Amino acid sequence: MKVLVTGGAGFIGTNFVLRTASTRPDWQVTVLDALTYAGNRANLDGVADRVAFVEGSVADADLVDSLVCDADAVVHFAAESHNDNSLDDPWPFIESNIIGTYRLLEAVRRHRVRMHHISTDEVYGDLELDDPARFTESTPLNPSSPYSASKASADLLVRAWIRSFGIEATLSNCSNNYGPYQHVEKFIPRQVTNVLMGIKPKLYGQGSNVRDWIHVDDHNDAVVTILENGRPGETYLIGADGERDNRQIVALLLELMDKPPDWFDLVTDRPGHDLRYAIDSSKLRAETGWSPRYQDIRAGLAQTIDWYRRNEGWWRAAKERSEAMYARLGR
Ligand code: NAD
Ligand code: DAU
Repeated sequence: MKVLVTGGAGFIGTNFVLRTASTRPDWQVTVLDALTYAGNRANLDGVADRVAFVEGSVADADLVDSLVCDADAVVHFAAESHNDNSLDDPWPFIESNIIGTYRLLEAVRRHRVRMHHISTDEVYGDLELDDPARFTESTPLNPSSPYSASKASADLLVRAWIRSFGIEATLSNCSNNYGPYQHVEKFIPRQVTNVLMGIKPKLYGQGSNVRDWIHVDDHNDAVVTILENGRPGETYLIGADGERDNRQIVALLLELMDKPPDWFDLVTDRPGHDLRYAIDSSKLRAETGWSPRYQDIRAGLAQTIDWYRRNEGWWRAAKERSEAMYARLGR
């Protein structure tokens, strides 16, 4: 199978390409990535002899058409992905996430290629901290930030192309990922690299917001499962029952990194900060048999800390740029 992976030089896309290189050795993979500040071609050096790489944007209609024309399936990860950036400058989110998805959909429609669209639980808005409810596939879209609104827009376009043009596509909405190769602007890598540099972790507000953590390999295994066994036209929620508030995550990191439990700063909150995300993934589990392998977040975080400890050369320059951005935003 010839698979076009968009955003394959970013966090989740890199892990997807590296993992499927061994779990699906018969796939012929081409990565399309614009190499924004979040993309790193060197991530794929270990598979460069087997994976073709094209630098370019999913918003480039001619380029996308020529690549989709030659593929059997498209797995669409490419996006601007960071909420704080979307609050600072929404335009790249509109261009890459909405227009880029539209370009892919039109090419997929013309060439009748299978597509899997990667999305996020943030399209559903947030839940109250004390609400026992979790998101399901029928939860109404109610995004809060420019990032999540752009992802919800893309999801709606995919759904419309399925219904009106009969394209063979599936969608998945996953919760917060952690693992190697995640950009240091994101919560867990920011705190891990802070501690490695002798800087206190930074918690927004009171640190009480809840996220539903999943290891990136569990997310990617679910994506492969949906691509191979999902029902065309369907949406699947992906989650690993990993709800923790941000204070609990920082407490675990501090313990694993031999720092005192109160060694953190509370900083200015993110505007419009979603309170809580929680995923009910029973549809995916019942239909496909998928279940997460990383059941122990402590072990998953220890492995992640170890990766950042061993790969300072990978994150050091990005860390300086990212912290300059946070200093400007007062967070
Ligand atoms: P990331 O920011 O680490 O990587 C995004 C990649 O897309 C980068 O390599 C970047 O260069 C590339 N890219 C950006 N704009 C592009 C464009 N116009 N054309 C081509 N490539 C472009 O993001 P990530 O965390 O790996 O997220 C990947 C996908 O998964 C996104 O669609 C995101 O919405 C979704 N998602 C992420 C999470 C999470 O916790 N990180 C959870 C659920 C869903
Ligand atoms: O839920 C899936 C989403 O998870 C993905 O769609 C996004 O691409 C991904 O970035 C992530 O969004 P969040 O906004 O939840 O992730 P972030 O890592 O930015 O923040 C996680 C939580 O930690 C959130 O409550 C904000 C908080 N936070 C973040 C940073 C960077 C802090 O308390 N301190 C920080 O320094």
